Amino acid sequence: MKNFDFQNPTKIIFGKDTIAKLATELPKEAKVMMLYGGGSIKRNGIYDQVQAALKDFEVIEFGGIPANPEYDVLMEALAIIKKENVNYLLAVGGGSVIDGVKFISSAAYYEGDEPWDILKKRVRTFKGMPFATVLTLPATGSEMNSGAVITRASTKEKLTMGGPGLFPEFSILDPQVVHSVPKRQLANGITDAFTHVLEQYMTYPAGAFLQDRFSEGIMQTLIEIAPRIIEDPSDYEAASNFMWSCTMALNGLIQKGVPTDWAVHMMGHELTALYGIDHARTLAIIAPSHYRYNFEDKKEKLAQYAERVWNVKEGTLEEKAKAGIEKTEAFLHSLDIKTTLAEYTDDYEGTAEIIAERFRERNWLGLGERKKVTPEAVEEIVKMSYQ
Ligand code: NZQ
Ligand code: ZN
Repeated sequence: MKNFDFQNPTKIIFGKDTIAKLATELPKEAKVMMLYGGGSIKRNGIYDQVQAALKDFEVIEFGGIPANPEYDVLMEALAIIKKENVNYLLAVGGGSVIDGVKFISSAAYYEGDEPWDILKKRVRTFKGMPFATVLTLPATGSEMNSGAVITRASTKEKLTMGGPGLFPEFSILDPQVVHSVPKRQLANGITDAFTHVLEQYMTYPAGAFLQDRFSEGIMQTLIEIAPRIIEDPSDYEAASNFMWSCTMALNGLIQKGVPTDWAVHMMGHELTALYGIDHARTLAIIAPSHYRYNFEDKKEKLAQYAERVWNVKEGTLEEKAKAGIEKTEAFLHSLDIKTTLAEYTDDYEGTAEIIAERFRERNWLGLGERKKVTPEAVEEIVKMSYQ
Protein backbone atom coordinates (compact mmCIF):
# COMPACT_ATOMS: atom_id res chain seq x y z
CA MET A 1 0.00 0.00 0.00
CA LYS A 2 1.26 3.49 -0.84
CA ASN A 3 1.50 6.27 1.77
CA PHE A 4 -1.44 8.64 1.90
CA ASP A 5 -3.20 11.54 3.63
CA PHE A 6 -6.96 11.40 3.80
CA GLN A 7 -9.19 14.31 4.68
CA ASN A 8 -12.74 14.86 3.51
CA PRO A 9 -14.50 17.70 5.29
CA THR A 10 -17.92 17.42 3.59
CA LYS A 11 -20.78 16.67 5.97
CA ILE A 12 -23.28 14.26 4.43
CA ILE A 13 -26.93 14.48 5.43
CA PHE A 14 -28.49 11.36 4.01
CA GLY A 15 -32.04 10.05 3.95
CA LYS A 16 -35.74 10.67 3.50
CA ASP A 17 -37.08 14.23 3.82
CA THR A 18 -33.69 15.74 4.60
CA ILE A 19 -33.95 18.75 2.26
CA ALA A 20 -35.79 20.57 5.06
CA LYS A 21 -32.55 20.51 7.06
CA LEU A 22 -31.19 23.30 4.86
CA ALA A 23 -33.00 25.63 7.26
CA THR A 24 -30.71 24.70 10.14
CA GLU A 25 -27.51 23.78 8.31
CA LEU A 26 -26.96 27.03 6.39
CA PRO A 27 -25.15 29.74 8.34
CA LYS A 28 -27.67 32.30 9.66
CA GLU A 29 -25.84 35.26 8.11
CA ALA A 30 -25.65 33.65 4.68
CA LYS A 31 -26.70 35.72 1.68
CA VAL A 32 -27.40 32.80 -0.59
CA MET A 33 -27.34 32.31 -4.33
CA MET A 34 -29.32 29.16 -5.14
CA LEU A 35 -28.21 27.71 -8.48
CA TYR A 36 -29.97 25.06 -10.51
CA GLY A 37 -30.16 23.55 -13.99
CA GLY A 38 -32.71 23.50 -16.77
CA GLY A 39 -35.78 23.32 -14.57
CA SER A 40 -36.34 19.66 -13.64
CA ILE A 41 -36.47 20.75 -9.99
CA LYS A 42 -39.58 22.81 -10.71
CA ARG A 43 -41.40 19.74 -12.02
CA ASN A 44 -40.45 17.17 -9.42
CA GLY A 45 -41.09 19.06 -6.19
CA ILE A 46 -37.46 19.64 -5.18
CA TYR A 47 -37.66 23.38 -5.85
CA ASP A 48 -40.65 23.73 -3.54
CA GLN A 49 -38.90 21.84 -0.76
CA VAL A 50 -35.81 24.03 -1.09
CA GLN A 51 -37.90 27.20 -1.17
CA ALA A 52 -39.71 26.17 2.01
CA ALA A 53 -36.44 25.46 3.81
CA LEU A 54 -34.91 28.78 2.70
CA LYS A 55 -37.84 30.98 3.68
CA ASP A 56 -35.90 32.79 6.43
CA PHE A 57 -32.84 33.49 4.28
CA GLU A 58 -32.02 36.19 1.79
CA VAL A 59 -31.84 34.25 -1.49
CA ILE A 60 -31.07 35.09 -5.12
CA GLU A 61 -31.86 32.40 -7.67
CA PHE A 62 -29.86 31.54 -10.75
CA GLY A 63 -31.30 28.89 -13.03
CA GLY A 64 -30.27 27.60 -16.43
CA ILE A 65 -26.93 25.91 -15.83
CA PRO A 66 -26.81 23.42 -18.71
CA ALA A 67 -25.60 19.82 -18.60
CA ASN A 68 -21.83 20.09 -19.10
CA PRO A 69 -21.75 23.43 -17.28
CA GLU A 70 -20.94 26.23 -19.66
CA TYR A 71 -18.30 28.79 -18.77
CA ASP A 72 -20.16 31.77 -20.26
CA VAL A 73 -23.30 30.99 -18.23
CA LEU A 74 -21.28 30.61 -15.03
CA MET A 75 -19.62 33.96 -15.68
CA GLU A 76 -23.09 35.56 -15.74
CA ALA A 77 -23.76 34.13 -12.28
CA LEU A 78 -20.38 35.38 -11.08
CA ALA A 79 -21.21 38.93 -12.13
CA ILE A 80 -24.44 38.85 -10.11
CA ILE A 81 -22.68 37.42 -7.07
CA LYS A 82 -20.19 40.27 -7.08
CA LYS A 83 -22.87 42.92 -7.61
CA GLU A 84 -25.18 41.57 -4.90
CA ASN A 85 -22.49 40.63 -2.36
CA VAL A 86 -23.59 37.02 -2.20
CA ASN A 87 -21.50 35.11 0.35
CA TYR A 88 -22.84 31.54 0.15
CA LEU A 89 -23.68 29.27 -2.80
CA LEU A 90 -26.23 26.49 -2.86
CA ALA A 91 -26.18 24.03 -5.76
CA VAL A 92 -29.44 22.17 -6.34
CA GLY A 93 -28.80 19.65 -9.08
CA GLY A 94 -26.60 16.92 -10.49
CA GLY A 95 -22.91 16.98 -11.32
CA SER A 96 -23.27 19.82 -13.81
CA VAL A 97 -24.84 22.27 -11.36
CA ILE A 98 -22.51 21.26 -8.53
CA ASP A 99 -19.43 21.54 -10.76
CA GLY A 100 -20.64 24.91 -12.03
CA VAL A 101 -20.96 26.11 -8.46
CA LYS A 102 -17.45 24.89 -7.69
CA PHE A 103 -16.12 26.98 -10.55
CA ILE A 104 -18.02 30.03 -9.32
CA SER A 105 -16.82 29.39 -5.76
CA SER A 106 -13.23 29.42 -7.00
CA ALA A 107 -13.65 32.33 -9.43
CA ALA A 108 -15.31 34.49 -6.76
CA TYR A 109 -12.03 34.63 -4.81
CA TYR A 110 -9.66 34.36 -7.77
CA GLU A 111 -7.26 37.25 -8.09
CA GLY A 112 -6.13 36.79 -11.69
CA ASP A 113 -7.70 38.68 -14.62
CA GLU A 114 -9.11 35.76 -16.54
CA PRO A 115 -11.03 33.06 -14.58
CA TRP A 116 -10.64 30.64 -17.52
CA ASP A 117 -7.00 30.36 -16.40
CA ILE A 118 -8.20 28.39 -13.37
CA LEU A 119 -8.95 25.66 -15.90
CA LYS A 120 -6.44 26.33 -18.61
CA LYS A 121 -3.45 26.78 -16.29
CA ARG A 122 -4.78 24.26 -13.78
CA VAL A 123 -4.68 26.70 -10.86
CA ARG A 124 -5.56 24.77 -7.68
CA THR A 125 -8.14 26.32 -5.38
CA PHE A 126 -7.17 26.51 -1.71
CA LYS A 127 -10.01 28.79 -0.68
CA GLY A 128 -13.34 29.29 -2.41
CA MET A 129 -16.65 30.87 -1.50
CA PRO A 130 -18.42 28.44 0.87
CA PHE A 131 -21.10 26.31 -0.72
CA ALA A 132 -23.42 23.41 -0.08
CA THR A 133 -25.37 21.06 -2.32
CA VAL A 134 -28.74 19.37 -2.62
CA LEU A 135 -28.04 16.41 -4.89
CA THR A 136 -30.77 15.59 -7.40
CA LEU A 137 -29.00 12.97 -9.50
CA PRO A 138 -26.64 10.24 -8.27
CA ALA A 139 -23.70 9.87 -10.64
CA THR A 140 -20.58 11.97 -10.37
CA GLY A 141 -19.71 12.05 -6.64
CA SER A 142 -19.23 15.81 -6.99
CA GLU A 143 -21.34 16.24 -3.84
CA MET A 144 -18.47 14.89 -1.73
CA ASN A 145 -15.32 15.73 -3.65
CA SER A 146 -13.33 18.81 -4.59
CA GLY A 147 -13.15 18.45 -8.37
CA ALA A 148 -15.14 19.95 -11.24
CA VAL A 149 -15.27 19.75 -15.03
CA ILE A 150 -16.21 22.88 -16.99
CA THR A 151 -17.08 23.23 -20.67
CA ARG A 152 -16.46 26.12 -23.02
CA ALA A 153 -18.55 25.73 -26.13
CA SER A 154 -16.83 28.48 -28.10
CA THR A 155 -13.52 26.59 -28.10
CA LYS A 156 -14.97 23.05 -27.76
CA GLU A 157 -12.96 22.51 -24.58
CA LYS A 158 -13.85 20.61 -21.43
CA LEU A 159 -11.30 20.94 -18.66
CA THR A 160 -10.91 19.88 -15.03
CA MET A 161 -10.18 21.93 -11.92
CA GLY A 162 -10.11 21.41 -8.19
CA GLY A 163 -8.30 21.83 -4.92
CA PRO A 164 -8.85 21.44 -1.18
CA GLY A 165 -10.90 24.65 -1.06
CA LEU A 166 -13.65 23.12 -3.19
CA PHE A 167 -15.31 20.52 -0.98
CA PRO A 168 -18.97 21.32 -0.29
CA GLU A 169 -19.49 22.28 3.37
CA PHE A 170 -22.42 19.90 3.43
CA SER A 171 -24.48 17.91 0.96
CA ILE A 172 -28.04 16.76 1.33
CA LEU A 173 -28.68 13.34 -0.20
CA ASP A 174 -32.35 12.41 -0.20
CA PRO A 175 -32.70 9.27 -2.33
CA GLN A 176 -36.38 10.11 -2.94
CA VAL A 177 -35.20 12.61 -5.59
CA VAL A 178 -34.32 9.67 -7.84
CA HIS A 179 -38.01 8.95 -8.54
CA SER A 180 -38.15 11.56 -11.32
CA VAL A 181 -34.78 10.85 -12.98
CA PRO A 182 -35.26 9.69 -16.59
CA LYS A 183 -33.98 6.21 -17.57
CA ARG A 184 -31.24 7.69 -19.72
CA GLN A 185 -29.81 9.62 -16.74
CA LEU A 186 -30.15 6.61 -14.44
CA ALA A 187 -28.11 4.55 -16.89
CA ASN A 188 -25.60 7.39 -17.13
CA GLY A 189 -25.30 7.60 -13.35
CA ILE A 190 -24.66 3.88 -12.96
CA THR A 191 -22.10 3.93 -15.79
CA ASP A 192 -20.28 7.00 -14.49
CA ALA A 193 -20.00 5.68 -10.93
CA PHE A 194 -18.96 2.24 -12.15
CA THR A 195 -16.23 3.78 -14.29
CA HIS A 196 -15.06 5.95 -11.38
CA VAL A 197 -14.38 2.77 -9.48
CA LEU A 198 -12.62 1.22 -12.49
CA GLU A 199 -10.34 4.26 -12.84
CA GLN A 200 -9.15 3.75 -9.27
CA TYR A 201 -9.02 -0.05 -9.37
CA MET A 202 -8.10 -1.29 -12.83
CA THR A 203 -4.39 -0.65 -12.55
CA TYR A 204 -1.93 -3.13 -10.98
CA PRO A 205 -2.01 -4.96 -7.65
CA ALA A 206 -0.72 -2.65 -4.90
CA GLY A 207 -1.26 -4.80 -1.82
CA ALA A 208 -4.24 -2.64 -0.77
CA PHE A 209 -6.67 -5.39 0.13
CA LEU A 210 -9.30 -3.23 1.79
CA GLN A 211 -9.38 -0.65 -1.01
CA ASP A 212 -9.84 -3.48 -3.52
CA ARG A 213 -12.74 -4.88 -1.50
CA PHE A 214 -14.34 -1.43 -1.15
CA SER A 215 -14.12 -1.01 -4.92
CA GLU A 216 -15.46 -4.47 -5.65
CA GLY A 217 -18.27 -3.90 -3.15
CA ILE A 218 -19.33 -0.66 -4.86
CA MET A 219 -19.29 -2.32 -8.30
CA GLN A 220 -21.25 -5.34 -7.02
CA THR A 221 -23.82 -3.04 -5.42
CA LEU A 222 -24.23 -1.05 -8.65
CA ILE A 223 -24.67 -4.28 -10.63
CA GLU A 224 -27.24 -5.49 -8.10
CA ILE A 225 -29.36 -2.34 -8.03
CA ALA A 226 -29.07 -1.40 -11.74
CA PRO A 227 -32.03 -3.42 -13.05
CA ARG A 228 -34.18 -2.49 -10.03
CA ILE A 229 -33.64 1.25 -10.25
CA ILE A 230 -34.11 1.35 -14.02
CA GLU A 231 -37.34 -0.63 -13.66
CA ASP A 232 -38.65 1.48 -10.77
CA PRO A 233 -36.82 4.69 -9.76
CA SER A 234 -39.16 5.12 -6.80
CA ASP A 235 -37.81 1.90 -5.21
CA TYR A 236 -36.31 3.58 -2.13
CA GLU A 237 -34.06 0.70 -1.16
CA ALA A 238 -32.52 0.58 -4.64
CA ALA A 239 -32.32 4.40 -4.83
CA SER A 240 -30.56 4.76 -1.48
CA ASN A 241 -27.97 2.12 -2.38
CA PHE A 242 -27.52 3.69 -5.82
CA MET A 243 -27.02 7.16 -4.35
CA TRP A 244 -24.55 6.13 -1.67
CA SER A 245 -22.58 3.95 -4.11
CA CYS A 246 -22.15 6.89 -6.47
CA THR A 247 -20.94 9.13 -3.66
CA MET A 248 -18.53 6.52 -2.30
CA ALA A 249 -17.17 5.85 -5.79
CA LEU A 250 -15.57 9.30 -5.96
CA ASN A 251 -15.17 10.84 -2.53
CA GLY A 252 -11.48 10.04 -2.31
CA LEU A 253 -11.70 6.99 -0.07
CA ILE A 254 -11.07 4.16 -2.54
CA GLN A 255 -8.18 5.93 -4.25
CA LYS A 256 -6.10 6.23 -1.09
CA GLY A 257 -2.97 4.10 -1.07
CA VAL A 258 -3.43 2.79 -4.61
CA PRO A 259 -2.33 3.82 -8.12
CA THR A 260 -5.05 5.47 -10.21
CA ASP A 261 -5.59 5.71 -13.95
CA TRP A 262 -8.13 8.39 -15.12
CA ALA A 263 -7.07 8.10 -18.79
CA VAL A 264 -10.60 6.94 -19.72
CA HIS A 265 -12.01 10.20 -18.35
CA MET A 266 -9.39 12.35 -20.05
CA MET A 267 -10.19 10.81 -23.44
CA GLY A 268 -13.93 10.77 -22.70
CA HIS A 269 -14.00 14.49 -21.91
CA GLU A 270 -12.74 15.17 -25.43
CA LEU A 271 -15.64 13.23 -26.95
CA THR A 272 -18.08 15.38 -24.97
CA ALA A 273 -16.24 18.54 -25.98
CA LEU A 274 -16.22 17.55 -29.67
CA TYR A 275 -19.61 15.84 -30.07
CA GLY A 276 -21.67 16.68 -26.96
CA ILE A 277 -22.00 12.98 -26.05
CA ASP A 278 -23.17 12.47 -22.44
CA HIS A 279 -20.22 12.15 -20.07
CA ALA A 280 -21.00 8.59 -18.94
CA ARG A 281 -21.47 7.39 -22.52
CA THR A 282 -18.04 8.66 -23.54
CA LEU A 283 -16.57 6.48 -20.80
CA ALA A 284 -18.44 3.45 -22.12
CA ILE A 285 -16.99 4.14 -25.58
CA ILE A 286 -13.39 4.42 -24.38
CA ALA A 287 -13.07 1.98 -21.46
CA PRO A 288 -13.23 -1.37 -23.31
CA SER A 289 -10.62 -0.26 -25.87
CA HIS A 290 -8.44 1.23 -23.15
CA TYR A 291 -8.43 -2.06 -21.26
CA ARG A 292 -7.77 -4.07 -24.42
CA TYR A 293 -4.92 -1.79 -25.49
CA ASN A 294 -3.29 -1.84 -22.04
CA PHE A 295 -4.11 -5.49 -21.42
CA GLU A 296 -0.60 -6.60 -20.41
CA ASP A 297 -0.31 -3.85 -17.79
CA LYS A 298 -3.76 -4.42 -16.34
CA LYS A 299 -4.37 -8.14 -16.70
CA GLU A 300 -3.83 -9.05 -13.03
CA LYS A 301 -6.48 -6.62 -11.86
CA LEU A 302 -8.77 -7.44 -14.79
CA ALA A 303 -8.64 -11.11 -13.78
CA GLN A 304 -9.23 -10.31 -10.10
CA TYR A 305 -12.22 -8.16 -11.11
CA ALA A 306 -13.63 -10.91 -13.33
CA GLU A 307 -13.30 -13.44 -10.52
CA ARG A 308 -14.59 -11.39 -7.63
CA VAL A 309 -17.15 -9.11 -9.28
CA TRP A 310 -18.42 -11.35 -12.08
CA ASN A 311 -17.74 -14.75 -10.54
CA VAL A 312 -15.58 -15.95 -13.46
CA LYS A 313 -13.85 -19.01 -12.02
CA GLU A 314 -12.66 -20.91 -15.10
CA GLY A 315 -9.65 -20.32 -17.33
CA THR A 316 -6.14 -18.89 -17.24
CA LEU A 317 -5.37 -15.43 -15.89
CA GLU A 318 -5.49 -14.04 -19.43
CA GLU A 319 -8.81 -15.70 -20.18
CA LYS A 320 -10.33 -14.36 -16.99
CA ALA A 321 -8.97 -10.89 -17.71
CA LYS A 322 -10.52 -10.97 -21.17
CA ALA A 323 -13.80 -12.16 -19.71
CA GLY A 324 -13.69 -9.16 -17.33
CA ILE A 325 -13.70 -6.76 -20.30
CA GLU A 326 -16.50 -8.69 -22.02
CA LYS A 327 -18.62 -8.74 -18.85
CA THR A 328 -18.19 -4.99 -18.54
CA GLU A 329 -19.38 -4.44 -22.10
CA ALA A 330 -22.35 -6.75 -21.56
CA PHE A 331 -23.25 -4.84 -18.38
CA LEU A 332 -23.18 -1.52 -20.25
CA HIS A 333 -25.31 -2.98 -23.04
CA SER A 334 -27.80 -4.21 -20.41
CA LEU A 335 -28.21 -0.54 -19.44
CA ASP A 336 -28.82 0.35 -23.09
CA ILE A 337 -25.49 2.14 -23.26
CA LYS A 338 -23.72 1.86 -26.60
CA THR A 339 -19.99 1.23 -26.54
CA THR A 340 -18.63 2.42 -29.90
CA LEU A 341 -18.21 5.96 -31.21
CA ALA A 342 -19.84 5.11 -34.54
CA GLU A 343 -23.10 4.45 -32.68
CA TYR A 344 -23.15 8.11 -31.54
CA THR A 345 -21.85 9.98 -34.60
CA ASP A 346 -21.19 9.33 -38.29
CA ASP A 347 -18.52 11.95 -38.25
CA TYR A 348 -15.90 10.05 -36.28
CA GLU A 349 -13.05 9.78 -38.83
CA GLY A 350 -10.09 11.85 -37.66
CA THR A 351 -11.26 12.07 -34.03
CA ALA A 352 -8.31 10.04 -32.73
CA GLU A 353 -5.80 12.33 -34.42
CA ILE A 354 -7.52 15.47 -33.08
CA ILE A 355 -7.53 14.16 -29.51
CA ALA A 356 -3.92 12.98 -29.66
CA GLU A 357 -2.88 16.38 -31.01
CA ARG A 358 -4.74 18.20 -28.22
CA PHE A 359 -2.96 16.06 -25.64
CA ARG A 360 0.39 16.84 -27.24
CA GLU A 361 -0.38 20.57 -27.19
CA ARG A 362 -1.29 20.34 -23.49
CA ASN A 363 1.86 18.38 -22.81
CA TRP A 364 -0.15 15.39 -21.57
CA LEU A 365 2.52 12.97 -22.71
CA GLY A 366 1.97 10.09 -20.31
CA LEU A 367 -1.42 9.31 -18.81
CA GLY A 368 -2.52 6.41 -16.65
CA GLU A 369 -1.12 4.71 -13.57
CA ARG A 370 2.24 4.06 -15.24
CA LYS A 371 2.31 7.41 -17.06
CA LYS A 372 2.87 5.55 -20.29
CA VAL A 373 -0.33 6.23 -22.21
CA THR A 374 1.29 8.54 -24.74
CA PRO A 375 -0.57 10.62 -27.35
CA GLU A 376 0.29 7.85 -29.82
CA ALA A 377 -1.38 5.31 -27.54
CA VAL A 378 -4.37 7.64 -27.12
CA GLU A 379 -4.70 7.79 -30.89
CA GLU A 380 -4.76 3.99 -31.10
CA ILE A 381 -7.24 3.59 -28.23
CA VAL A 382 -9.66 6.13 -29.67
CA LYS A 383 -9.40 4.46 -33.11
CA MET A 384 -10.14 1.08 -31.53
CA SER A 385 -13.30 2.60 -30.04
CA TYR A 386 -14.74 3.76 -33.40
CA GLN A 387 -16.48 0.47 -34.22
O1 NZQ B 1 -30.92 20.57 -15.85
P1 NZQ B 1 -32.11 19.90 -15.29
O2 NZQ B 1 -33.38 20.39 -15.86
O3 NZQ B 1 -32.12 19.92 -13.78
O4 NZQ B 1 -32.06 18.36 -15.74
C1 NZQ B 1 -30.97 17.52 -15.45
C2 NZQ B 1 -30.07 17.32 -16.67
O5 NZQ B 1 -30.77 17.49 -17.87
C3 NZQ B 1 -31.50 16.13 -15.19
N1 NZQ B 1 -31.83 15.88 -13.78
C4 NZQ B 1 -31.04 16.04 -12.69
N2 NZQ B 1 -31.69 15.64 -11.57
C5 NZQ B 1 -32.93 15.25 -11.96
C6 NZQ B 1 -33.02 15.40 -13.36
N3 NZQ B 1 -34.14 15.10 -14.04
C7 NZQ B 1 -35.20 14.65 -13.34
N4 NZQ B 1 -35.17 14.46 -12.00
C8 NZQ B 1 -34.06 14.75 -11.28
N5 NZQ B 1 -34.04 14.53 -9.93
O6 NZQ B 1 -30.44 15.28 -15.56
C9 NZQ B 1 -29.70 15.86 -16.63
C10 NZQ B 1 -28.23 15.64 -16.41
O7 NZQ B 1 -27.76 16.34 -15.31
P2 NZQ B 1 -26.19 16.53 -15.07
O8 NZQ B 1 -26.00 17.27 -13.81
O9 NZQ B 1 -25.55 17.05 -16.30
O10 NZQ B 1 -25.71 15.01 -14.92
P3 NZQ B 1 -24.53 14.38 -14.10
O11 NZQ B 1 -24.81 14.39 -12.65
O12 NZQ B 1 -24.27 13.09 -14.77
O13 NZQ B 1 -23.29 15.37 -14.31
C11 NZQ B 1 -22.49 15.33 -15.47
C12 NZQ B 1 -21.39 16.38 -15.38
O14 NZQ B 1 -20.50 16.09 -14.27
C13 NZQ B 1 -19.16 16.00 -14.74
C14 NZQ B 1 -19.34 15.55 -16.16
O15 NZQ B 1 -18.19 15.76 -16.94
C15 NZQ B 1 -20.53 16.36 -16.62
O16 NZQ B 1 -20.14 17.66 -16.97
N6 NZQ B 1 -18.36 15.15 -13.86
C16 NZQ B 1 -18.02 15.64 -12.65
C17 NZQ B 1 -17.20 14.95 -11.78
C18 NZQ B 1 -16.82 15.51 -10.47
N7 NZQ B 1 -17.07 16.76 -10.21
O17 NZQ B 1 -16.24 14.82 -9.64
C19 NZQ B 1 -16.67 13.63 -12.10
C20 NZQ B 1 -17.30 13.01 -13.28
O18 NZQ B 1 -16.38 12.11 -13.83
C21 NZQ B 1 -17.78 13.93 -14.35
O19 NZQ B 1 -16.72 14.28 -15.21
ZN1 ZN C 1 -17.10 10.44 -14.53
